[in-house]
Amino acid sequence: MNSSNAAQVYAANCVTCHQATGKGVPGAFPALDGSVVVAGSKIDQIKLVLNGKNAIPSWKMLSDTDIAAAITYTRNNWSNKAQQNIVQPAEVLAARK
Ligand code: HEC
Repeated sequence: MNSSNAAQVYAANCVTCHQATGKGVPGAFPALDGSVVVAGSKIDQIKLVLNGKNAIPSWKMLSDTDIAAAITYTRNNWSNKAQQNIVQPAEVLAARK
C-alpha cells in the first residue's frame, strides 16, 4: 500500500461527501478532519465504513486493501494524528460479517 493509492481511494469514494479538505459539508456530511471517530479506536471506524450508518453508505463492496488504505489515509491526513494510525487489510477482513 502506498500513500498515493490511499489518496486515490479516498478521492474516488469519499471525497464527494467528506471533501478534499476533510471538512465535510456542514449540516450534511461530518468532517473527518478532527473527527473523534477517526482519532478513536480502529475497529469502530472499520465497522462504520464497512456497514454504513444513517446517510453514510456501506463500503463493503470495496476490497480489504482499499478500505484499509482509505481509513489509514483519514487517520494521517489534515490535522489528524491518530494513535492507531495504520489499518491493515487483515483487520478489515476480520471485521466483515
Ligand atoms: C454519500 C456521502 C458519503 C460518502 C461518499 C462517504 N461518507 Fe462517510 N459519512 C457520511 C455521513 C452522512 C456520515 C454521518 C453518519 C452518521 O453518524 O449519521 C459519515 C460518517 C463518516 C465517519 C464518521 C465521522 C464522525 O466523526 O462521526 C467516517 C470515519 C467516515 N464517514 C468515513 C468515510 C470514508 C472512509 C468514506 C470513503 C470510503 C466515506 N466516509 C464516504 C457520508 C458519506
